[in-house]
Amino acid sequence: MTLFIFFLLLIILVLAGTAAYAGWRAAPWAPTFKADTERFLKLANIKPGQKIYDLGCGDGRLVVAAGEAGAVAIGFEISLLPYSIAKWRILSSPFKKKCSIKFRDFWRADLSNADIVYFFLMPKIFTKIKNKLEKELKPGAKVIIYAWPMDGWTALATDCPIGKTPIYLYQI
Ligand SMILES: C[S@@+](CC[C@H](N)C(=O)[O-])C[C@H]1O[C@@H](n2cnc3c(N)ncnc32)[C@H](O)[C@@H]1O
Repeated sequence: MTLFIFFLLLIILVLAGTAAYAGWRAAPWAPTFKADTERFLKLANIKPGQKIYDLGCGDGRLVVAAGEAGAVAIGFEISLLPYSIAKWRILSSPFKKKCSIKFRDFWRADLSNADIVYFFLMPKIFTKIKNKLEKELKPGAKVIIYAWPMDGWTALATDCPIGKTPIYLYQI
């Protein structure tokens, strides 16, 4: 019994620790609303085989949606609970061959072959991520941002129905 409680506490500690670390690195876990996935897909206008990255993919819902739409979809996640849910989501998807989740810090990911990058992260990291995207992305790559615009970039399109969270589309 004592051993069971010890392992339970250990698991809780690891889950809470990785969640806190993710919150400090870029954002805590808060999923894109399910209904907004369709709006994301419309803006992304995915062509078959395009490579799409979700930086901080949470439970992997957008990774799977992008895979279903024909993309090769890759998510990065460092919080253990959403990562585990994302893994399970992908394994139970018929499109699992097109989707993958990496337990990795996206700040260390090379984005040079991405066609589309999506993120829903805190504005406090926008200056840093803007520098990374401008340095690494190829010309023509698209960046889709949920909730907050990127200062200094002009959006190609903004999807902002009344009462909904805005989604911004940019092109490098
Ligand atoms: C606001 S949530 C968005 C989740 C998902 N993209 C969505 O839209 O449903 C941000 C996610 O980024 C993850 N995260 C934060 N910093 C990260 C980092 N440096 N590398 C990978 N994931 C990170 C968090 O754990 C969290 O799940």
